[in-house]
Formats: sequence, structure tokens, C-alpha cells
Amino acid sequence: MSTPRLSQIEAAPTAVVERLVSLACLAPSVHNTQPWRWRYDGGRLSLSADLRRRLPAEDPRGRNLTISCGAALHHLQFAARALGWDTTVVRLPPDPDETLLADVVVTRRGHHAIERGDIDLLRTRCTDRRRFTAWPVPQDRLEDLCRLAAPWGVRAQALVDDGDRFRLELLANRALTFLEIDRDRQDEQDRWIDRATPEGIPLDLLPDDPEPLQARSRFRPGVLEDTRLVLHGGDRVIVLGGHGDDVGSWLRTGEAMSAIWLEATRAGMSVVPMSQPIEVESIRREIGRSVLGRAFEPHLLLRVGWQAIGRRGLPRTPRRPLADVLQV
Ligand SMILES: Cc1cc2nc3c(=O)[nH]c(=O)nc-3n(C[C@H](O)[C@H](O)[C@H](O)COP(=O)(O)O)c2cc1C
Repeated sequence: MSTPRLSQIEAAPTAVVERLVSLACLAPSVHNTQPWRWRYDGGRLSLSADLRRRLPAEDPRGRNLTISCGAALHHLQFAARALGWDTTVVRLPPDPDETLLADVVVTRRGHHAIERGDIDLLRTRCTDRRRFTAWPVPQDRLEDLCRLAAPWGVRAQALVDDGDRFRLELLANRALTFLEIDRDRQDEQDRWIDRATPEGIPLDLLPDDPEPLQARSRFRPGVLEDTRLVLHGGDRVIVLGGHGDDVGSWLRTGEAMSAIWLEATRAGMSVVPMSQPIEVESIRREIGRSVLGRAFEPHLLLRVGWQAIGRRGLPRTPRRPLADVLQV
């Protein structure tokens, strides 16, 4: 049977595409920059990187930007499936501007019940930066999450070896020190906090003064100095990456990250990306060498853990209006 031409396929109505794109835009993005643009021509839905939303100091090559767009692309496919639509995705179609990341054709599937639970999952997933409980996610559950990356050709490795975790902690600390003295990066990061517009990270989602390291003490504070931890006892880490360090592999890493994050949310786990160590190129290379043994190129780290039961829910990060991101 020959492949039908685009003109022969019954295209999704604009209202369906609008619904799918608004669900896709619930995806996580670096600093909540929402660096995507969508265009629907009545048959093909195109996803492009919005380079005006790039972070030149922290993300000069656009790795985090592309991962964010990959997450939105996966959210779109996930939402379509939940609502009874099929998607055919062509990644990196030819484009003179080199901003086009994917073309998607949305077609109706046979009779299919709407998966409300999956739509709820898109709405409940969030970045919860409060400290995880001390109870670590068991290794087999981490490995189940890692397996979800394979269909995208993405490598996901859980750091279960104490030595690897220790090395990563040292490197992550070094990255933080590096970033603390880089004014351009600090200023850029600050510009994305507590904005008046529906983007960026609201202050009420950032932890207040870092929680004290030591348990509550009967004594008043003394002068003994201690370094702040980047990883606490119960935190587990998954490294995501690929064989290359280019736009195509970042896009797929974003899709895999979204798949992992949604399933972790379904299982009651909490996921928080940790991109600073990757943003410092020398440290990214050192992670590839000394933690991953050069098995693959690291693109992003994910902290995975459990939030204490009964904690209050968090307000959602804002999203830009659909009219700003979708052109029909
Ligand atoms: C590529 C990427 C890198 C991120 N890096 C960090 C990070 O280093 N630290 C952090 O706390 N959150 C990080 N985030 C989470 C975003 O800040 C978060 O997704 C965004 O503010 C939207 O909030 P939401 O996930 O609750 O919808 C990252 C997200 C992405 C997609």
C-alpha cells in the first residue's frame, strides 16, 4: 500500500490542534523561557525554536533551549494519543533558517476512549524544588525510568554507584562556584525570575533561605562552617545524553526527558533537572569522562526523589497565551 499524500489525509481541525498545542506548552523549559513557536497550515504542524528566547550567557549553543522544545514535542505526541489522535513526526526537516525542529501530522485514530488520567498528568507535572525525603527511589524503579529513553535513541543512566555519585557531586559543586563568579550568567538568570509577564520562574517556586544542613539543634548557631550540599541523601540522579552533542540529539533528549518525567509523576516521584554542571563545558566533559566513562555525551542531569506525603501543592508556573506561540 502506498503512503498517502498529505492532501489525502484527513487533517485535524484547527480547534484540535489548538488544544494539543496548549497542552504541549505545559512542558518544562529552561527558566520557563518557553522557547517554541508553532505554526499550523491546516495539514502540517511545525515546531520551531524561538531564538529570541535563547539564553546567550548560560546556553550559548542552545542545548537547553532545544531540550525544552523536545519536551514540548513529546508533550504534544502524548496529548494527541490521550485524546485519540495519531502523530507522525519528522524531526529536523530541511529548513534554510535552521530553526525548524519538527513537522507533525495529526490524524484521527480509530475509535478511542479519551485518557483523562494522561491529560491530568500533563497538568500536574511540575518542578518541585523542595527537599526530597531521605527515602531514596529504589534502583529498579530508576532503571525502569531509564528504559523509557530508549525509544528516542537516548541514553539514560542512573548513578547508583557511590563513587560516581561522589564524583558528580564534586563536579556539580565546582560548576556552582564557577557560575557564582560569572556576572553575565547571574544577571541572565536573575532576569528570568519573578517576571511580570507569563514566563520565567515565580519567586514562590524557589526555596527561601537554603534549609540548614544540620538537624535542628538544641544549641544556638555557632561559627563552624560547612559547605552547602548539591545532592541530599535521598536524591537519585539520572544522566541523560546521546552519542552526539548536536541539535538532533538534544531534541530527542528533550522528548525522552518528558517521557521519564511524566511516568515518574504518575508513580508519585518528583523530578528536578539540574543543568548547571552541563552548562560549564569543561565540567560537562569531565562528567562524560570520569562519571560516564565516555559511554555517551551528557546533555542533562535529573534529580529524582519523593516529596513528603501531605505537602501542599505548588502554584503552576505561568504559560504564554496560545496566540503568542501558535500561528494558524
Ligand atoms: C533543559 C532544562 C533545564 C532546566 N534546568 C533547571 C535547573 O538547573 N534547576 C532547576 O531548578 N530547574 C531547572 N529546570 C526546570 C525549569 O525551571 C521548569 O521546567 C520551568 O520553570 C517550568 O516549570 P514547571 O516545570 O513547573 O512547569 C530546567 C528545565 C529544562 C527543560
